[in-house]
Amino acid sequence: MRFETLAVHAGGEPDAETGAIAPPLHLSTTFQHAADGTLDRGWIYQRYDNPTQARLEAALAALDGASRSLFFSTGLAAASALLQAIPGDGNVVFQRDLYHGIRVLAQDWLPRWGLQARFVDATQQDALTEAIDENTRLIWLETPSNPLLTIVDIASASALRKSAQALLVVDNTFASPVLQSPLALGADVVLHSATKYMGGHSDVMGGVLSFSAPSPIAEQCFEVRKLHGASANPFAAWLVMRGLRSLPARMRMHCDNARRIADWLSAQDAVSVVHYPGLASHPQHALARQQMRDFGGMLSFEMRDGREAALRVAEATQLFQCATSLGGCESLIEHRASVEGPQPTSPKALLRLSVGLEHPDDLIADLAQALQAAKK
Ligand SMILES: Cc1ncc(COP(=O)(O)O)c(C=O)c1O
Repeated sequence: MRFETLAVHAGGEPDAETGAIAPPLHLSTTFQHAADGTLDRGWIYQRYDNPTQARLEAALAALDGASRSLFFSTGLAAASALLQAIPGDGNVVFQRDLYHGIRVLAQDWLPRWGLQARFVDATQQDALTEAIDENTRLIWLETPSNPLLTIVDIASASALRKSAQALLVVDNTFASPVLQSPLALGADVVLHSATKYMGGHSDVMGGVLSFSAPSPIAEQCFEVRKLHGASANPFAAWLVMRGLRSLPARMRMHCDNARRIADWLSAQDAVSVVHYPGLASHPQHALARQQMRDFGGMLSFEMRDGREAALRVAEATQLFQCATSLGGCESLIEHRASVEGPQPTSPKALLRLSVGLEHPDDLIADLAQALQAAKK
Protein backbone atom coordinates (compact mmCIF):
# COMPACT_ATOMS: atom_id res chain seq x y z
CA MET A 1 0.00 0.00 0.00
CA ARG A 2 1.20 3.48 -0.78
CA PHE A 3 1.95 6.02 1.94
CA GLU A 4 -1.21 8.15 1.53
CA THR A 5 -3.38 5.04 1.75
CA LEU A 6 -1.59 3.85 4.88
CA ALA A 7 -1.95 7.30 6.45
CA VAL A 8 -5.73 7.11 5.99
CA HIS A 9 -6.28 3.46 6.93
CA ALA A 10 -3.50 2.12 9.19
CA GLY A 11 -4.89 1.30 12.65
CA GLY A 12 -8.34 2.32 11.39
CA GLU A 13 -10.29 -0.94 11.21
CA PRO A 14 -14.01 -0.25 11.87
CA ASP A 15 -14.91 -0.84 15.52
CA ALA A 16 -15.76 -4.56 15.95
CA GLU A 17 -18.62 -3.83 18.37
CA THR A 18 -20.43 -0.97 16.64
CA GLY A 19 -19.05 -0.73 13.09
CA ALA A 20 -18.04 2.89 13.80
CA ILE A 21 -15.71 4.16 11.08
CA ALA A 22 -14.03 6.78 13.27
CA PRO A 23 -11.96 4.97 15.91
CA PRO A 24 -13.52 4.64 19.37
CA LEU A 25 -11.97 6.68 22.17
CA HIS A 26 -11.56 4.54 25.29
CA LEU A 27 -10.96 6.71 28.34
CA SER A 28 -11.16 3.90 30.89
CA THR A 29 -8.14 3.82 33.19
CA THR A 30 -8.69 0.19 34.12
CA PHE A 31 -9.82 -3.01 32.38
CA GLN A 32 -11.61 -6.12 33.63
CA HIS A 33 -9.39 -9.15 34.24
CA ALA A 34 -9.90 -12.67 35.63
CA ALA A 35 -9.70 -13.40 39.37
CA ASP A 36 -6.23 -14.90 38.93
CA GLY A 37 -5.02 -11.83 37.02
CA THR A 38 -5.29 -13.35 33.53
CA LEU A 39 -5.83 -10.61 30.94
CA ASP A 40 -8.57 -12.06 28.76
CA ARG A 41 -8.57 -9.08 26.40
CA GLY A 42 -4.94 -8.00 26.79
CA TRP A 43 -5.44 -4.73 28.71
CA ILE A 44 -4.91 -4.03 32.40
CA TYR A 45 -4.25 -0.33 33.11
CA GLN A 46 -4.19 2.78 30.95
CA ARG A 47 -0.62 3.78 31.92
CA TYR A 48 0.71 0.44 30.60
CA ASP A 49 -1.16 0.40 27.32
CA ASN A 50 -4.67 1.10 26.08
CA PRO A 51 -6.78 0.33 23.01
CA THR A 52 -6.91 3.87 21.54
CA GLN A 53 -3.15 4.26 21.83
CA ALA A 54 -2.59 0.78 20.38
CA ARG A 55 -4.44 1.80 17.21
CA LEU A 56 -2.29 4.91 16.91
CA GLU A 57 0.90 2.92 17.48
CA ALA A 58 -0.06 0.48 14.71
CA ALA A 59 -0.53 3.45 12.36
CA LEU A 60 2.77 5.06 13.42
CA ALA A 61 4.69 1.81 12.90
CA ALA A 62 3.19 1.47 9.41
CA LEU A 63 4.15 5.06 8.46
CA ASP A 64 7.68 4.81 9.89
CA GLY A 65 8.29 1.31 8.46
CA ALA A 66 8.97 0.23 12.05
CA SER A 67 8.67 -3.07 13.89
CA ARG A 68 7.08 -1.20 16.79
CA SER A 69 6.15 2.37 17.77
CA LEU A 70 5.57 3.75 21.26
CA PHE A 71 3.51 6.87 21.95
CA PHE A 72 4.43 9.22 24.83
CA SER A 73 2.90 12.27 26.50
CA THR A 74 5.33 14.66 24.71
CA GLY A 75 8.33 14.60 22.38
CA LEU A 76 10.62 15.31 25.33
CA ALA A 77 9.10 12.43 27.32
CA ALA A 78 9.98 10.16 24.38
CA ALA A 79 13.52 11.60 24.21
CA SER A 80 14.01 11.18 27.98
CA ALA A 81 12.72 7.60 27.90
CA LEU A 82 15.27 6.68 25.24
CA LEU A 83 18.12 8.34 27.15
CA GLN A 84 17.08 6.59 30.37
CA ALA A 85 16.75 3.22 28.65
CA ILE A 86 20.30 2.99 27.31
CA PRO A 87 23.10 1.62 29.52
CA GLY A 88 24.31 4.41 31.83
CA ASP A 89 28.04 4.06 31.42
CA GLY A 90 29.17 5.71 28.21
CA ASN A 91 28.65 8.76 26.02
CA VAL A 92 25.99 10.10 23.69
CA VAL A 93 27.10 12.03 20.61
CA PHE A 94 24.66 14.82 19.76
CA GLN A 95 24.51 16.91 16.66
CA ARG A 96 25.36 20.48 17.66
CA ASP A 97 22.39 22.25 16.05
CA LEU A 98 19.38 20.65 17.68
CA TYR A 99 16.17 21.53 19.46
CA HIS A 100 17.00 23.66 22.49
CA GLY A 101 15.05 21.49 24.96
CA ILE A 102 17.01 18.38 24.00
CA ARG A 103 20.27 20.28 24.35
CA VAL A 104 19.32 21.31 27.89
CA LEU A 105 18.29 17.72 28.67
CA ALA A 106 21.67 16.50 27.41
CA GLN A 107 23.71 19.13 29.25
CA ASP A 108 21.90 19.19 32.59
CA TRP A 109 20.42 15.72 33.00
CA LEU A 110 22.53 13.21 31.12
CA PRO A 111 25.33 13.23 33.74
CA ARG A 112 22.76 12.30 36.41
CA TRP A 113 22.03 9.19 34.37
CA GLY A 114 25.72 8.27 34.17
CA LEU A 115 26.13 9.40 30.57
CA GLN A 116 28.43 11.98 29.03
CA ALA A 117 27.13 14.33 26.31
CA ARG A 118 29.33 15.23 23.33
CA PHE A 119 28.27 17.86 20.82
CA VAL A 120 29.61 17.84 17.29
CA ASP A 121 28.91 19.44 13.92
CA ALA A 122 27.49 16.26 12.42
CA THR A 123 27.40 17.78 8.93
CA GLN A 124 31.19 17.23 9.02
CA GLN A 125 31.77 13.51 8.62
CA ASP A 126 35.32 13.71 10.03
CA ALA A 127 34.18 15.45 13.20
CA LEU A 128 31.42 12.89 13.71
CA THR A 129 33.80 9.99 13.15
CA GLU A 130 36.22 11.43 15.69
CA ALA A 131 33.54 11.97 18.35
CA ILE A 132 32.28 8.36 18.23
CA ASP A 133 34.17 5.71 20.16
CA GLU A 134 33.63 2.22 21.64
CA ASN A 135 31.76 3.77 24.60
CA THR A 136 29.26 5.65 22.43
CA ARG A 137 25.83 4.31 23.35
CA LEU A 138 23.80 6.58 21.11
CA ILE A 139 24.35 8.88 18.11
CA TRP A 140 21.67 11.57 18.14
CA LEU A 141 20.86 13.30 14.86
CA GLU A 142 18.20 15.87 14.06
CA THR A 143 17.80 16.40 10.33
CA PRO A 144 16.61 18.89 9.21
CA SER A 145 17.79 20.53 12.43
CA ASN A 146 16.15 23.17 14.58
CA PRO A 147 16.63 26.09 13.90
CA LEU A 148 19.38 26.13 11.24
CA LEU A 149 17.87 23.47 8.95
CA THR A 150 21.17 21.64 8.55
CA ILE A 151 21.04 18.23 6.91
CA VAL A 152 23.04 15.22 8.12
CA ASP A 153 23.71 12.09 6.08
CA ILE A 154 21.77 9.38 7.94
CA ALA A 155 23.11 6.41 5.96
CA SER A 156 26.74 7.51 6.43
CA ALA A 157 26.23 8.13 10.15
CA SER A 158 24.77 4.66 10.57
CA ALA A 159 28.04 3.20 9.28
CA LEU A 160 30.08 5.03 11.94
CA ARG A 161 28.96 2.99 14.94
CA LYS A 162 31.98 1.43 16.59
CA SER A 163 30.25 -1.10 18.84
CA ALA A 164 27.28 -3.41 18.56
CA GLN A 165 25.67 -1.55 21.47
CA ALA A 166 25.69 1.85 19.75
CA LEU A 167 22.35 3.01 18.39
CA LEU A 168 21.52 5.71 15.86
CA VAL A 169 18.44 7.85 16.62
CA VAL A 170 17.08 10.46 14.25
CA ASP A 171 14.71 13.20 15.40
CA ASN A 172 12.40 13.34 12.38
CA THR A 173 10.06 16.03 13.74
CA PHE A 174 10.70 18.62 10.98
CA ALA A 175 10.38 16.12 8.12
CA SER A 176 7.63 13.83 9.49
CA PRO A 177 7.36 10.31 8.03
CA VAL A 178 5.95 11.87 4.85
CA LEU A 179 9.25 13.43 3.80
CA GLN A 180 11.90 11.15 5.30
CA SER A 181 12.22 7.52 6.44
CA PRO A 182 15.26 7.34 8.76
CA LEU A 183 14.77 3.63 9.56
CA ALA A 184 15.07 2.75 5.86
CA LEU A 185 18.31 4.78 5.78
CA GLY A 186 19.91 2.78 8.61
CA ALA A 187 18.69 4.42 11.83
CA ASP A 188 17.68 2.15 14.73
CA VAL A 189 15.20 4.54 16.31
CA VAL A 190 13.20 7.47 15.01
CA LEU A 191 11.83 10.17 17.31
CA HIS A 192 8.96 12.55 16.54
CA SER A 193 7.39 15.32 18.51
CA ALA A 194 3.81 14.45 17.51
CA THR A 195 2.88 17.87 18.90
CA LYS A 196 4.02 19.30 15.56
CA TYR A 197 3.03 18.04 12.09
CA MET A 198 1.44 14.76 13.20
CA GLY A 199 -1.09 16.48 15.46
CA GLY A 200 -1.05 19.32 12.96
CA HIS A 201 -3.49 21.71 14.66
CA SER A 202 -1.55 23.11 17.67
CA ASP A 203 -3.97 21.47 20.08
CA VAL A 204 -2.37 18.22 21.24
CA MET A 205 0.99 17.10 22.66
CA GLY A 206 2.65 13.77 22.03
CA GLY A 207 5.93 12.03 21.30
CA VAL A 208 6.85 8.92 19.37
CA LEU A 209 9.71 6.42 19.35
CA SER A 210 9.70 3.95 16.44
CA PHE A 211 12.12 1.01 16.38
CA SER A 212 13.61 -0.66 13.31
CA ALA A 213 13.57 -4.16 14.86
CA PRO A 214 12.38 -5.92 18.01
CA SER A 215 15.11 -5.11 20.54
CA PRO A 216 15.80 -4.92 24.26
CA ILE A 217 15.92 -1.11 23.91
CA ALA A 218 12.30 -1.02 22.70
CA GLU A 219 11.29 -3.14 25.71
CA GLN A 220 13.25 -0.84 28.03
CA CYS A 221 11.55 2.25 26.58
CA PHE A 222 8.17 0.59 27.15
CA GLU A 223 9.18 -0.05 30.78
CA VAL A 224 10.41 3.53 31.27
CA ARG A 225 7.13 4.87 29.89
CA LYS A 226 5.15 2.60 32.20
CA LEU A 227 7.18 3.12 35.39
CA HIS A 228 8.12 6.79 35.02
CA GLY A 229 4.57 7.64 33.99
CA ALA A 230 5.39 9.18 30.61
CA SER A 231 2.18 7.77 29.12
CA ALA A 232 -0.17 10.00 27.13
CA ASN A 233 -3.88 10.51 27.66
CA PRO A 234 -5.93 8.39 25.20
CA PHE A 235 -7.58 11.57 23.89
CA ALA A 236 -4.13 12.80 22.80
CA ALA A 237 -3.57 9.50 20.98
CA TRP A 238 -6.98 9.87 19.34
CA LEU A 239 -6.23 13.43 18.18
CA VAL A 240 -2.81 12.46 16.79
CA MET A 241 -4.39 9.56 14.89
CA ARG A 242 -6.89 11.99 13.39
CA GLY A 243 -3.96 14.22 12.41
CA LEU A 244 -2.19 11.35 10.64
CA ARG A 245 -5.12 10.91 8.22
CA SER A 246 -4.42 14.28 6.58
CA LEU A 247 -0.65 14.41 7.19
CA PRO A 248 0.48 13.74 3.58
CA ALA A 249 -1.97 16.33 2.19
CA ARG A 250 -0.93 18.96 4.73
CA MET A 251 2.80 18.30 4.26
CA ARG A 252 2.46 18.85 0.51
CA MET A 253 0.97 22.31 1.13
CA HIS A 254 3.47 23.17 3.89
CA CYS A 255 6.31 22.32 1.49
CA ASP A 256 4.85 24.30 -1.44
CA ASN A 257 4.27 27.38 0.72
CA ALA A 258 7.72 27.21 2.37
CA ARG A 259 9.41 26.85 -1.02
CA ARG A 260 7.63 29.99 -2.31
CA ILE A 261 8.59 31.96 0.82
CA ALA A 262 12.22 30.76 0.80
CA ASP A 263 12.57 31.87 -2.83
CA TRP A 264 11.01 35.24 -2.08
CA LEU A 265 13.10 35.88 1.04
CA SER A 266 16.28 34.95 -0.85
CA ALA A 267 15.65 37.91 -3.18
CA GLN A 268 15.29 40.50 -0.35
CA ASP A 269 18.23 42.86 0.29
CA ALA A 270 17.43 43.10 4.01
CA VAL A 271 17.91 39.34 4.39
CA SER A 272 21.49 38.06 4.58
CA VAL A 273 20.81 34.32 4.46
CA VAL A 274 17.87 31.95 4.17
CA HIS A 275 18.20 28.49 5.75
CA TYR A 276 15.99 26.13 3.72
CA PRO A 277 17.22 22.77 2.39
CA GLY A 278 15.13 23.18 -0.77
CA LEU A 279 17.23 26.12 -1.95
CA ALA A 280 20.06 25.30 -4.36
CA SER A 281 22.22 27.64 -2.22
CA HIS A 282 21.78 25.45 0.90
CA PRO A 283 25.14 23.77 1.73
CA GLN A 284 23.56 20.29 1.92
CA HIS A 285 20.95 20.73 -0.82
CA ALA A 286 22.21 17.72 -2.82
CA LEU A 287 22.05 15.49 0.27
CA ALA A 288 18.57 16.75 1.13
CA ARG A 289 17.41 15.83 -2.40
CA GLN A 290 18.83 12.37 -1.90
CA GLN A 291 17.44 11.50 1.54
CA MET A 292 14.22 13.53 1.67
CA ARG A 293 11.14 13.38 -0.57
CA ASP A 294 10.54 17.13 -0.18
CA PHE A 295 12.02 19.87 1.98
CA GLY A 296 9.40 20.66 4.59
CA GLY A 297 7.50 23.62 5.98
CA MET A 298 10.19 25.00 8.32
CA LEU A 299 12.75 27.65 7.42
CA SER A 300 14.77 30.34 9.10
CA PHE A 301 16.43 33.51 7.87
CA GLU A 302 18.82 36.13 9.18
CA MET A 303 18.41 39.89 8.93
CA ARG A 304 21.40 41.80 7.56
CA ASP A 305 20.91 44.53 10.20
CA GLY A 306 21.04 42.11 13.12
CA ARG A 307 18.96 41.41 16.20
CA GLU A 308 16.99 44.68 16.41
CA ALA A 309 15.89 44.41 12.78
CA ALA A 310 14.82 40.81 13.37
CA LEU A 311 12.75 41.84 16.41
CA ARG A 312 11.11 44.63 14.40
CA VAL A 313 10.09 42.13 11.69
CA ALA A 314 8.62 39.76 14.29
CA GLU A 315 6.70 42.66 15.85
CA ALA A 316 5.31 43.80 12.50
CA THR A 317 3.94 40.55 11.05
CA GLN A 318 0.17 40.20 11.25
CA LEU A 319 -0.60 36.78 9.79
CA PHE A 320 2.57 35.18 11.18
CA GLN A 321 1.92 35.06 14.93
CA CYS A 322 4.82 35.35 17.39
CA ALA A 323 4.65 31.98 19.09
CA THR A 324 6.78 28.95 19.76
CA SER A 325 6.20 25.42 18.37
CA LEU A 326 5.56 24.50 14.76
CA GLY A 327 3.70 22.26 12.36
CA GLY A 328 0.19 23.68 12.80
CA CYS A 329 -2.16 25.06 10.15
CA GLU A 330 -1.33 28.64 11.14
CA SER A 331 1.99 30.33 10.30
CA LEU A 332 4.27 31.24 13.20
CA ILE A 333 7.37 33.42 13.53
CA GLU A 334 9.88 33.29 16.36
CA HIS A 335 13.08 35.04 17.37
CA ARG A 336 14.60 31.87 18.81
CA ALA A 337 17.47 33.58 20.67
CA SER A 338 14.90 35.48 22.77
CA VAL A 339 13.18 32.31 24.01
CA GLU A 340 16.17 30.03 24.61
CA GLY A 341 16.86 31.09 28.19
CA PRO A 342 20.12 32.40 29.65
CA GLN A 343 22.49 30.84 27.08
CA PRO A 344 20.87 31.12 23.66
CA THR A 345 22.64 29.35 20.80
CA SER A 346 20.57 30.60 17.85
CA PRO A 347 22.09 33.47 15.84
CA LYS A 348 20.82 36.83 17.15
CA ALA A 349 19.63 37.98 13.72
CA LEU A 350 17.69 34.75 13.07
CA LEU A 351 13.94 34.40 12.74
CA ARG A 352 12.34 30.97 12.44
CA LEU A 353 9.18 30.45 10.43
CA SER A 354 6.71 27.60 10.70
CA VAL A 355 4.96 28.05 7.38
CA GLY A 356 1.28 27.17 7.63
CA LEU A 357 -1.52 26.40 5.23
CA GLU A 358 -2.64 29.94 4.37
CA HIS A 359 -2.42 31.16 0.76
CA PRO A 360 1.26 31.78 -0.04
CA ASP A 361 0.51 35.20 -1.58
CA ASP A 362 -1.01 36.37 1.71
CA LEU A 363 1.99 35.07 3.66
CA ILE A 364 4.45 36.80 1.34
CA ALA A 365 2.44 40.05 1.50
CA ASP A 366 2.62 39.87 5.31
CA LEU A 367 6.40 39.35 5.29
CA ALA A 368 6.82 42.13 2.70
CA GLN A 369 4.99 44.68 4.86
CA ALA A 370 6.93 43.52 7.94
CA LEU A 371 10.31 43.88 6.20
CA GLN A 372 9.20 47.35 5.02
CA ALA A 373 8.12 48.33 8.56
CA ALA A 374 11.42 47.04 9.98
CA LYS A 375 13.40 49.49 7.80
CA LYS A 376 12.32 52.45 9.93
C1 LIG B 1 12.88 18.97 16.71
C2 LIG B 1 12.12 18.82 17.99
N1 LIG B 1 12.24 17.68 18.69
C3 LIG B 1 11.59 17.50 19.87
C4 LIG B 1 10.79 18.50 20.40
C5 LIG B 1 10.11 18.28 21.73
O1 LIG B 1 8.76 18.00 21.55
P1 LIG B 1 7.61 18.34 22.63
O2 LIG B 1 7.49 19.83 22.69
O3 LIG B 1 6.42 17.63 22.07
O4 LIG B 1 8.05 17.77 23.94
C6 LIG B 1 10.65 19.72 19.71
C7 LIG B 1 9.80 20.80 20.27
O5 LIG B 1 9.78 21.89 19.79
C8 LIG B 1 11.33 19.87 18.48
O6 LIG B 1 11.25 21.01 17.78
